[in-house]
Amino acid sequence: MSDNPRPLSMKTIAAIAAGVAAVVVVLMIALVPRLAEVAPEGPSIGGPFTLVDQTGRTVSTADFRGKLMLIYFGYTFCPDVCPTTLGNVAQAYDQLPPADQAQLVPIFITVDPERDTVDQMAQYVDAFSPALVGLTGSPDQVASVLKEFRVYARKADGKDGNYSVDHSSILYIMGKDGKYAAHLTGDATPKEIVAAVKKLLASS
Ligand code: NI
Repeated sequence: MSDNPRPLSMKTIAAIAAGVAAVVVVLMIALVPRLAEVAPEGPSIGGPFTLVDQTGRTVSTADFRGKLMLIYFGYTFCPDVCPTTLGNVAQAYDQLPPADQAQLVPIFITVDPERDTVDQMAQYVDAFSPALVGLTGSPDQVASVLKEFRVYARKADGKDGNYSVDHSSILYIMGKDGKYAAHLTGDATPKEIVAAVKKLLASS
């Protein structure tokens, strides 16, 4: 046994470097999904908007002040995801006691204003819940709201002039002050939606 520590061999240095690199990679893999979760909590998610509801009335965020807004973006021609999510939103709303319902507005905002006219929105939202507010607007109005909420939406051409719209699927809950409060993924169950709403109502 020597008192002098041996200088690190190149092999040892390489092994340490590989070890450090592996740890960095593992940390990145562990952190990236969390960053994705945290990202929507930034101060710039959502913002004031002016759109047109399913009765043709111009509405803005100020009209919903004092209530939580549960917002989902999609389009009425969506074959599966939107109807499923809105069905869950309607079920969640129905499961809330009237006192909680009075403090919540479920809102569906179209990503497809060209086809989702006021009349189209009226027929669509009424099929889910009388409480559901359907919002559309001019392409510019809608585009600016999509940008504020960082919603991804892209047309995919189909046959005969029909098209689908690929879009992100997130349920945003905006606080009574109109600012971002929480979000759920679009596949959240009614139970999960109810829990998130109740939690926010308890703290507001
Ligand atoms: Ni959809």
